[in-house]
Amino acid sequence: MRWYTTSLGKKFIMGITGLLMVVFVLAHMLGNLSTFGGANGLNAYAEHLRVFPPGLWAFRGLMALAFVVHIITGVLLYLENRAARPVPYANKKNDRTTFSALTMVWTGILLGIFVLIHLLQFTLHAFNAEWAHLVDAMGRFDVFTMVSAGLSNPLWAAFYIGAVVVLLLHLLHGIQSFFQSLGLTNENTFCSINLGGKFVAFVLAVGFVLIPLTIFFGIVK
Ligand code: HEM
Repeated sequence: MRWYTTSLGKKFIMGITGLLMVVFVLAHMLGNLSTFGGANGLNAYAEHLRVFPPGLWAFRGLMALAFVVHIITGVLLYLENRAARPVPYANKKNDRTTFSALTMVWTGILLGIFVLIHLLQFTLHAFNAEWAHLVDAMGRFDVFTMVSAGLSNPLWAAFYIGAVVVLLLHLLHGIQSFFQSLGLTNENTFCSINLGGKFVAFVLAVGFVLIPLTIFFGIVK
């Protein structure tokens, strides 16, 4: 574990755990698009996820581990960087950096809080205990009615749209930073990796934001 104490080791861990989460978020966004297939589309998709419970739980365990390790390592790196430069620059100009890069630790913490609230709402049904008993005409868990009930409330719709903006900010820098952390960029590839990362971040944001928007405005019923 000595390599973990180095900043390079921590960056590597950030890259690997970040990659796992980006793959999850992509799969989750694509799966969520089945909401456009109405109740039958989303409920059938959710049912498929539950066909092999040990696999589902192994996957959830891996993602929970990646989530916790990513946040702890990110905060440790941030504190290390701050300790290395206790006195801020007198005239700090961030010519070569972006708002997304500067706010990584804060957007990361906000996303962590979002995921906890999101799990409490849709997985643990902590705010609406009755959702746990929703069943559709085919006897499946009625995820569609649950999501529609949640996102037709303006406060929850705004909460999800806000979370997607934070996700976009985090990934605009995060995806290309993952390639750097794993030592996969050089002068020739940096530009295309940077653009590719931003493109994936935008695709994710558009895919996610469509769900609260279309449900809230009654386009999907
Ligand atoms: C904005 C649109 C989103 C919608 C409508 C949505 C919907 C859902 C629903 C319905 C579930 C429960 C699935 C089930 O029990 O069958 C779920 C689980 C989850 N979501 Fe989302 N989600 C959204 C965005 C996100 C984002 C942006 C993230 C991560 C940054 C995320 C992370 C998770 C996680 C970690 C789970 C738990 C997965 C599991 O139970 O194994 N979601 N989501």
